[in-house]
Amino acid sequence: MALVPGDGVGPEVIAEARRVLDATDLTLEVEELPWGSAHWHEHGRMMPEDALAVVRSFDAVLLGAVGDPSLPDDETLWGLLLELRQGLDLWANVRPARLLPGIPCPLAARGPDDVDMLFVRENTEGEYAGVGGRAHRGLPLEVAVEASVFTRCGCERVVRYAFTRARERRGRLTSATKSNASRHAYTLWDEVVREVAEEFPEVRVEHVLVDALCARMVRDPASIDVVVASNLFGDVLTDLAAALQGGLGVAASANLAPGSDIPGVFEPVHGSAPDIAGQGVANPFGAIWSAALLLEHTGHDEEAGRVMAALEAVARAGPRTRDVGGSAGTREVGEAVAARVAA
Ligand code: NAD
Ligand code: IPM
Ligand code: MN
Repeated sequence: MALVPGDGVGPEVIAEARRVLDATDLTLEVEELPWGSAHWHEHGRMMPEDALAVVRSFDAVLLGAVGDPSLPDDETLWGLLLELRQGLDLWANVRPARLLPGIPCPLAARGPDDVDMLFVRENTEGEYAGVGGRAHRGLPLEVAVEASVFTRCGCERVVRYAFTRARERRGRLTSATKSNASRHAYTLWDEVVREVAEEFPEVRVEHVLVDALCARMVRDPASIDVVVASNLFGDVLTDLAAALQGGLGVAASANLAPGSDIPGVFEPVHGSAPDIAGQGVANPFGAIWSAALLLEHTGHDEEAGRVMAALEAVARAGPRTRDVGGSAGTREVGEAVAARVAA
């Protein structure tokens, strides 16, 4: 597998994920790819030109984070993360949101039974299609167009995948759109959901407007099982979900092309966190959980289970980083998880 530690806290949390992977008895061939903002400053690009081919030669990638205050965000993200997602056609971004026992939830009187959701986010098109442009720059008549692109095939594959995940879980799927206001793309999405639903009579599907879903995630998260959403809505909903599971430092994700042999890209949901980078205090949970998703996806179910069990034990007993109520550093937490994996 390849590791792309990236920027900011990325290298700090990926080092701990690597420590945990090394603690399994698997003999994994791991190669670190030094891509990111430092690469940009040296070579004028975030990744080498043949990066997609390089990534295809691995079975999976574990990515830290991308983004550096010295560079424009659209340059760095389109140069690495979004390029990997779109260039490899990793069309499903799968993000579990589960409150681990021991992690404090910001909602009063909520426990692990109440927060256990799975988000399936469309990952290659929609509001992130990158189609558009700007004209008359700097003039009063300046115009910017950012077109959303929703294809039937793009909607169908991610919706069908979400149904299969809902069938494996509690059999409930929530589709989030905003088709009361955006009447073209999201109505196509809604139609596709209705059509695909016929293939899954055992799954109870509901259509919920995304604004109302935000409110419900706060008020009644236990009523939500699997959520399928477009690229932008999936992005926003999963930061809210991350907050419900204790914070951005905990949340994990998998960028996948289900049914293909394209390598998945696994990454914590959080970014490069420049406000805490270099201090050794970033929570490595999201990166370690992402490593567990990677193990599961590459056929190592037993080891993935061990990593998750170790993570849950450390969530419960500590040490924990300060964002989740503890005072430990990144490394101490990584070492504690690795020790339990090895035991
Ligand atoms: P962020 O996720 O980096 O940080 C948001 C808040 O969460 C900050 O207060 C930060 O300290 C905290 N946080 C994040 N990760 C944490 C961790 N592991 N442990 C403890 N606290 C943590 O989001 P942002 O500040 O909006 O963005 C910073 C940069 O990261 C930007 O350049 C942005 O574009 C980029 N970004 C990249 C990714 C990615 O690579 N997948 C994701 C989101 C943002
Ligand atoms: C995420 C991030 C990215 C996204 C950004 C950094 C482009 O926020 O993975 O959630 O919006 O997809
Ligand atoms: Mn995001």
